[in-house]
Amino acid sequence: MVKVTNKWLLLLSVATISCTPMDDALAGIFGRHMRDSRSFDPYENTIDPPENTVPFASGNMTPGVGQLNTGQPEMGIMAPPFGPMDLPADGSSPLGIVNPVAPDSASLIRGEVMFDRMCAVCHGAEGIGSQASIIEKYPLLVAYNLSGTRVAGFSDGYIYGILRVGRGLMPSYGHQVSHFDRWHIVNYIRSLQRKAGNFPVEGG
Ligand code: HEC
Repeated sequence: MVKVTNKWLLLLSVATISCTPMDDALAGIFGRHMRDSRSFDPYENTIDPPENTVPFASGNMTPGVGQLNTGQPEMGIMAPPFGPMDLPADGSSPLGIVNPVAPDSASLIRGEVMFDRMCAVCHGAEGIGSQASIIEKYPLLVAYNLSGTRVAGFSDGYIYGILRVGRGLMPSYGHQVSHFDRWHIVNYIRSLQRKAGNFPVEGG
């Protein structure tokens, strides 16, 4: 084993201090150094999509080759950073995003599949919290009604937002539900509210 002596400590500190100047000197010779690494950024688009392909839009569409995705507001995507604090208390749309997906039958069918998969466990298949499937085991964990008048009064963007980032006791599902599936779920929640006679409400 190496004995830690003053000599070793001196050598160690010299090596540490000299690291940056040495790096800089090598940068002078080779034009770059390790601190300026050429790794990809998350979601960076490195190549153009092949010709005649239809992109699968999960909400991570990049603005162009080599550019970072910052979100496209016209597609109803919230630009990061975005968190529960950005959800307006009055239920209006965060950052003014609008629902880009028409509530046609394909959207409602997909919305139902995703709602039953992701939301019904806590909010009930009909959007009634007290009918949630976890009620027998965890009566205290059951969440609010989604087909009632309160959520009917929220904007589409608010429901999209809470689904994406969570709020209070509700976890976020943004990482599990892709961009368009979130809007399909919003459309499906509207159909549950309509079925319950609570939508459209004034300004809803
Ligand atoms: C693990 C249980 C759970 C799941 C799953 C869940 N939620 Fe929630 N949800 C909650 C809880 C708890 C609240 C109350 C949040 C709070 O404390 O502010 C809530 C609140 C909400 C609200 C606001 C209701 C109001 O009256 O303010 C909306 C909208 C909502 N959830 C939508 C969804 C959608 C859409 C899904 C499916 C993607 C979903 N939730 C999945 C637990 C859940």
